[in-house]
Amino acid sequence: SPGTRYEAENATVFQGVVESNHAGFSGTGFVNGDNVAGGYVEWTVNGTAGAATLRIRYANGTTANRPATIAVNGATVAANQPFNGTGAWSTWATATLPISLNAGANTVRITANTANGNPNLDYIEVAP
Ligand code: GCU
Repeated sequence: SPGTRYEAENATVFQGVVESNHAGFSGTGFVNGDNVAGGYVEWTVNGTAGAATLRIRYANGTTANRPATIAVNGATVAANQPFNGTGAWSTWATATLPISLNAGANTVRITANTANGNPNLDYIEVAP
């Protein structure tokens, strides 16, 4: 199952803007994070307690990796998650990682590690 999708344009954005100028996104747009370290997108997702799969849809039209910190409920689950170049800003890829959720509301935050900022972020999906 793809789980539940949470669009980036509906999330909390720190140091970034919602845009729609690169095709192929889901929903009404994606988040273009500023080219700074520390910018983030944070989603609130509904969970059932225990293991889950987190999928992150992104595009990176550069050839440089844009690593980020993935935190769930404030705890880092991936300190250096790679978001490698996808070939074009309109070419979207999915990164997948295991997480653990609480029952009810959980936060998922993706924070840029480098001065290049985050890749463009389209959505996350959470599957039990
Ligand atoms: C370009 C591109 C943006 C992207 C940005 C970046 O400006 O159009 O969508 O976010 O590069 O380097 O982050």
